[in-house]
Amino acid sequence: MKIAPSILSADFANLQTDVEKVEQAQVDMLHIDVMDGHFVPNLTFGPNVVAALRPHSQLVFDCHLMIENPENYVEAFADAGADLIGVQYESTPNIHRALDMIKKKGKLAEIVINPGTPVSAISSLLAMVDQVLVMTVDPGFGGQKFMPEMLDKVAELAQIKQEKGYHYEIQVDGGVNDQTIKQCAQAGATVAVAGSFVFKGDPAVQVEKLRQATVE
Ligand code: DX5
Ligand code: ZN
Repeated sequence: MKIAPSILSADFANLQTDVEKVEQAQVDMLHIDVMDGHFVPNLTFGPNVVAALRPHSQLVFDCHLMIENPENYVEAFADAGADLIGVQYESTPNIHRALDMIKKKGKLAEIVINPGTPVSAISSLLAMVDQVLVMTVDPGFGGQKFMPEMLDKVAELAQIKQEKGYHYEIQVDGGVNDQTIKQCAQAGATVAVAGSFVFKGDPAVQVEKLRQATVE
């Protein structure tokens, strides 16, 4: 199981230091939550922050765009240094165009589904994506409770991947801790995002707890 700490729960006044801490813990990617106050009822930051962090980290930057009409910002995040760009199925009538733009910029493309969206809604997009993110909370805030009902979607995606020979990673995001990560791994998730669990203590210790939980 790959681990992707979310900087949503990091210290925004010391972002560089917190990113360095998780990088030293040898995590697999850095999850960057972008919120616009429209698609979700919260605001975070834009491509400038991604560009500011870029020279300080070698990690894969996984930008989760929780913004309306993300196709208007794909280019800006790609140019800012994102390696992987995630767009929410529910955020635009032009979801295929948004994914296509990410690929044309030479970046890894991710489709994200909210708790209310079934896997069947994105079946025609699965062949083209590098990662599928199954939200395990309603997007917008860190520190919410994990929704175990979403694990059926993880298992369904794992089955489709095997049957069709697709290559996408299956990511889970929201309420992941050293208990819920076990269920995610069992269901077939390959990447776990964790925000509050990683940053509520020493990130190195917390990341190790997540790793241990999946090998137990
Ligand atoms: C929520 C974000 C998550 C958030 C997860 O909308 O997409 O990435 O940081 O936070 P935790 O791990 O605290 O649930
Ligand atoms: Zn996220």
